[in-house]
Amino acid sequence: MSDGSCQDTAGGLDSPLHRARSASRSKPLPGAVGGSRRFTGEVDESATGSVNFLLDRTPPPPLWQHRGPVPVYRFEQQRRDYTDLAAGRVLRGAPGATAFPVRLASELAQRAFAHAPSSGALLLYDPCCGGGYLLTVIGLLHGARVRGLVGSDVSPDAVSLCESNLALLDPDGLRDRLGRLEQDATSFGKDAHRDAVASAGRLSALLQPQAPLRRTFVADAGDPEAIQAGLDGLGPDIAIVDVPYGRASAWAGRATGTGALLASLAAALRPGAIVAVAASKRDRPESDRFERLEHWQVGKRALAVLRLR
Ligand SMILES: C[S@@+](CC[C@H](N)C(=O)[O-])C[C@H]1O[C@@H](n2cnc3c(N)ncnc32)[C@H](O)[C@@H]1O
Repeated sequence: MSDGSCQDTAGGLDSPLHRARSASRSKPLPGAVGGSRRFTGEVDESATGSVNFLLDRTPPPPLWQHRGPVPVYRFEQQRRDYTDLAAGRVLRGAPGATAFPVRLASELAQRAFAHAPSSGALLLYDPCCGGGYLLTVIGLLHGARVRGLVGSDVSPDAVSLCESNLALLDPDGLRDRLGRLEQDATSFGKDAHRDAVASAGRLSALLQPQAPLRRTFVADAGDPEAIQAGLDGLGPDIAIVDVPYGRASAWAGRATGTGALLASLAAALRPGAIVAVAASKRDRPESDRFERLEHWQVGKRALAVLRLR
């Protein structure tokens, strides 16, 4: 089982990953790209390791209005196998890059969707996007709710990695990635490469008929003008962000904490925009400019869904 950096195990019957795996067992993957011979969606199920499909999925409890203990997972109540989404497998990683837990990413995104101004497809923005793992995972798991994904970071290297990960949401980008993984599998003959090829086939079934809009740019999250310039008229419905904390990542530049980030987002986003934040318990995601809709804790993380007033 893996979490985040690729833990948790996949499987409710209505989950995209489950549908992808079912399709791969019975027929060519519906999302397999372009009928390419190399991209048939044929999948070696033995490559998936300890898959644990859970057959039952209870509906999430109503939006948080109660006074009792806060459920950690309201949408992602089951553990699933997210091996296909492991950083460094099909999605690209980098030394020192963090990978947000997939189950928590999906939970945070769905809580944000539940409060979004529209029930249609939404534009998501991560102002500390790192390698784009969080955005790409959401684009794959919840592509039907996503019309665009925008990432910015103070680090140009991170932005470049984000761009290449977001490209996997486009059939051409995923096909390129698959081609390289197949070359590696042929050249090195390692199980890891063959497993990655199988994962890429399954992920192709998650792609949407229309690839989402993608934009990346370098900006300091403490600089609202830089964010506005990078967004260049795009009005994100949701900002979703895993802020720097801990040893693996630290604030750099003008933003020195979640408060500064929220102040920038308040200046750059439209009223009514939703901000979903994961921060450390010591750096609570709170601001007078936002109405706090939900907040809860998972381990050392404090999470919140806020609405810009
Ligand atoms: C925890 S990582 C984010 C990982 C990312 N969510 C992902 O899924 O790959 C935090 C990121 O914040 C970035 N960062 C640090 N200070 C920043 C700032 N002032 N403005 C924008 N990004 C910043 C770091 O470069 C790092 O990539």
